[in-house]
Amino acid sequence: MRKKIIAGNWKMNKNLEDGIALASEVVNIANDETPNDVTVVMCTPAIHLSQVSGITANSDKVFVGAQNMSEHESGAYTGDLAADMITSTGASYVIIGHSERREYHFETNQQLAARVKLALAKGLTPLFCCGESLEIREAGKHVEFVTNQLSESLYDLSSEDLQKVVIAYEPIWAIGTGVTASAEQAQDMHKSLRASLADRYSHEVAEEISILYGGSMKPSNAQELLSQPDVDGGLIGGASLKSRDFIDITKSY
Ligand code: PGA
Repeated sequence: MRKKIIAGNWKMNKNLEDGIALASEVVNIANDETPNDVTVVMCTPAIHLSQVSGITANSDKVFVGAQNMSEHESGAYTGDLAADMITSTGASYVIIGHSERREYHFETNQQLAARVKLALAKGLTPLFCCGESLEIREAGKHVEFVTNQLSESLYDLSSEDLQKVVIAYEPIWAIGTGVTASAEQAQDMHKSLRASLADRYSHEVAEEISILYGGSMKPSNAQELLSQPDVDGGLIGGASLKSRDFIDITKSY
């Protein structure tokens, strides 16, 4: 059965001290309030990973992830983060292909395919992000565009490996804008992505993949989005920086 996952993406926010405070609050409240069948992930800046992993070590609900990783194992790649470095902190997830990385760092589907493979080989769970711009949506090409992102970055994987990937659909026009996709728009896309997965792999495999929605999800709209049959969770930016809001989302199924 596919997992319910609420993942926070802190982006480039919180210094170390504030990050430790936020992580401690999240773990404390999640342990008391988050339903047992919901997995909580905090994707922190790289310098926080080690200490935040320590804070989550005794929680069986809250896990830690990085926001990016290199497709190279090690070497002369100044400023980059290797999969082994991420796992050595105790983190177990990694966001791959967030639209901000695709836009500002020109990450390509091919590069992201290599990262997903390496993350899996190193035992990390990739949170693979996909999503279209407003322009593409208005042209009516969004399903084709996002399906192609999946196809170019994921469809070389064996079905065993694919089932370890978590997909996050994040329409770029909904990220950080306060404008969320409607529950219907999210469901339509998630259903199309699952159909594409079923087509490439099988119905059984497609049913095992968690597909998260991301883009201005907050306590006031989470329930409507999470009640859709193909929406298995959320990737939360802004609202993951407030422990109360973030945990309220984990209770919104
Ligand atoms: P947002 O960000 O919730 O602030 O829109 C989501 C994301 O970019 O992962």
